Amino acid sequence: MTAWEVTVDLAVVGTGVAGLTAALRAAELGLRVVAVTKTTVEDGNTQWAQGGIAVVLPGDQSSPPGDSVDAHVADTLAAGAGLCDEAAVRTILAAGPAAVSELRTHGAVFDGGWTDVHRTREGGHRAYRVIHAGGDATGAEIERALASSARSQQLALLEGQSVSEVLRDDTGRVAGLALLDELGAGVLRARAVLLATGGLGQLYAASTNADVATGDGLALGLRAGALTADLEFVQFHPTALHLGTGSRGRQPLVTEAIRGEGAVLLDIAGAPVMTGVHPLGGLAPRDVVAAAITRRMAATGTDHVLLDATHFGSVELRRRFPTVHAACASVGIDPACEPIPVAPAAHYQCGGVVTDTSGRTTVPGLYAAGEVARTGLHGANRLASNSLLEGLVMGRRAAEAVAADFTVSRCPGVPQPSRELRPVADRDALQQSMSAHAGIGRDSAGLATASAVAGATTRRRIRTPHDAEDAALTLAAAAVLAAAAARTESRGCHLRTDHVRPAERWRRSIAVVLDDDGIPVPAEPALIGGVA
Ligand code: SIN
Repeated sequence: MTAWEVTVDLAVVGTGVAGLTAALRAAELGLRVVAVTKTTVEDGNTQWAQGGIAVVLPGDQSSPPGDSVDAHVADTLAAGAGLCDEAAVRTILAAGPAAVSELRTHGAVFDGGWTDVHRTREGGHRAYRVIHAGGDATGAEIERALASSARSQQLALLEGQSVSEVLRDDTGRVAGLALLDELGAGVLRARAVLLATGGLGQLYAASTNADVATGDGLALGLRAGALTADLEFVQFHPTALHLGTGSRGRQPLVTEAIRGEGAVLLDIAGAPVMTGVHPLGGLAPRDVVAAAITRRMAATGTDHVLLDATHFGSVELRRRFPTVHAACASVGIDPACEPIPVAPAAHYQCGGVVTDTSGRTTVPGLYAAGEVARTGLHGANRLASNSLLEGLVMGRRAAEAVAADFTVSRCPGVPQPSRELRPVADRDALQQSMSAHAGIGRDSAGLATASAVAGATTRRRIRTPHDAEDAALTLAAAAVLAAAAARTESRGCHLRTDHVRPAERWRRSIAVVLDDDGIPVPAEPALIGGVA
């Protein structure tokens, strides 16, 4: 086993928008920081984000008249279906302009430049406030800028290292990471650990997420004893490119911005899907649109609907939405001439490891930021394009919290990784059953079936990165299912066919922790970040 000689002040797990923002800020604050990724720095989910960053930039000449942070807060709360923590929403959204300025100092370039930045609109937004880069390649531009800053500043980057455990000392405080690569295991001593691992899209058979989104951070947090919440709210993007019946793995995204700029959802017979469903029509919050599509697919006996974007014409489609155009072209569709076949796919984990608005979790020395964290910003359904903003703001804040909490005197020893066997379910069966029973439209019988699949495990020693992913997926599935079974109502992304309406008694978050046997169970916290 390798035990790195050095003890770092902060080990950041994940190199997407939140992780790199945190690592760069930590280095700026003088902390010894290392960013760890199981693949390569650029190979996360951030690179696939299309639509943009939702932000109200004050003083910007091109700000839409009448838009304000208050209006952005109101849209976020409406989308979140009663479960956002309003104080968290306010502080995170208000910090957006500074975060975007900071990102620009790392070299990110937005469409329209500094003075006339272009804005688009996505589901749930009542204003054009989503800024973008490369047309529909916002995530790729952010990742490029942050990764290039990290490399030029010689930030310590540990690639190809999967994290199998957050190590703690005998007081329960974080002391480092257990690492794993194809050659064996190792230990990295760290005074603090920031989870910035992204989400769990690979829990489902079809997802817009990269292959690396295997719920790693959620599992690491749960096993370290952290409180998690809102796990039942897995957001499905309404429009992933439909690649054919039963298509598995990462499905190309067809950004909501395309609808923000006039594209229309039609069913297979050509009838509009969103007419009469919601006052915002096709730009209703994402949970509403995804549910309406799901109902229409069931009613028409198909597995997709159509998105008509032909009004753009070929030149404008290639200019404004090059990523979508290229994805369509790769499967022989010309979106300038024919409607794009689309279907909902798993997209975003709204809940996660509970943090305060500085990124602190309930475990001393453990921080979380980005999709893996539950700050209270998203509630029961994330407002489109709020997540890149959250990653920027919370990555920076988490680094600052680590610096503020830092005590030089403490130097962790070399903690030993636990040698316990971990329960692992069959990945394929897990994905199929999560898609069948824990997607849009759940009921108690289906959730019980999925729980049985997640519980049909063998106990294995974790020897390879793939084993670590399988164990993380197994635990993440059990945690999502425990929360989904407990919430006997429909709210936001959690749509139950046996409890079709929201219930006032459930206007609160459900926390999940591990019990003494390592099983995820709903807990009864008095208060999570302001939401009882
Ligand atoms: C999109 O471009 O539609 C996705 C943006 C997001 O998930 O926030």
